[in-house]
Amino acid sequence: MNMHVDVRNRVHQLDPQTQNFATDILEGLSQPRKTLPPKYFYDDLGSELFVGITKLPEYYPTRTELGILRARAGEIAALIPPDAALVEFGAGATTKIRLLLEARDIAAYVPVDISGDFIAAQAEELCADFPELAVYPVAADFTAPFALPEAVRDRPKVGFFPGSTLGNFEPHEAAELLRTFRDILGEGARLIVGVDLEKDERLLVPAYDDAAGVTAEFNLNLLARINRELGGDIDLRAFKHRAVYNRDQHRIEMHLVSQRDQTVRILGERFTFTAGESIHTENSYKYSLPRFRDLAEQAGWSLQQSWMDDDGLFSVHALQAN
Ligand code: AVJ
Repeated sequence: MNMHVDVRNRVHQLDPQTQNFATDILEGLSQPRKTLPPKYFYDDLGSELFVGITKLPEYYPTRTELGILRARAGEIAALIPPDAALVEFGAGATTKIRLLLEARDIAAYVPVDISGDFIAAQAEELCADFPELAVYPVAADFTAPFALPEAVRDRPKVGFFPGSTLGNFEPHEAAELLRTFRDILGEGARLIVGVDLEKDERLLVPAYDDAAGVTAEFNLNLLARINRELGGDIDLRAFKHRAVYNRDQHRIEMHLVSQRDQTVRILGERFTFTAGESIHTENSYKYSLPRFRDLAEQAGWSLQQSWMDDDGLFSVHALQAN
């Protein structure tokens, strides 16, 4: 990256996690079309705001997926071999996995998440409620290949990737990610994955631009986080949350739109904005059933079974490795 020497020195004085954050932020804001990676939404406040989003009347994905998992837990769990290890990619709260664990005795559970502390705490609670279950938390970035614990090496593997997290990735990256999962899980693997469905934008846009303004706050928290962690001087009132549906690309886009010509400073580097210029902060891709099937097949999986709610808002799929 092309950074000034003094900026590079400032970045090197930060702790390694903040260094990655700084590098990605400075790079994203140096593009002709400014972008920020959505994975940085989730600091403590951002994670709390996201929980708030999942409870909004307009935000249908979480409650709809939970409804599908609840209604179909028996059918879904029946696809999991009893001696299998269930590997959850990006494990957070255990609400969803519990539905599967309650529906079937499962030997081993491997929650994988970047935030090792959080999954360790969740794992402890799970062990208390499911004493027969062996839990092996792995602190790793699931977008890169990582090794599964030795203890589950000889078990059949079933991946679990709920929440439509896949929607945050560009389709070619999503295919790559599904292929990485297949490589991690090995031969004979299965994957249970939650995918948000394409629908009328009159339902989609409010889900990402709610009346209470929680999603706006969630989006703007990214700028607040830059101010907190990188000593930025961004005036949050000078940016506005915007959600648009990009029909050609089948995705909801979130933006932060500059309300005036302005210059902000982050780690001593200056970034200028014209009035109306946006920072593109998130894509949330929506799939039709055939488009998701194509994606899975591109990545070495075949679609075994699909479930959706009565209104066709959200889908859960069982895939089988080829
Ligand atoms: C967590 C990526 C599934 O795309 O719906 C919610 C994130 N962003 N509201 C989504 C999100 C704005 C969410 N995912």
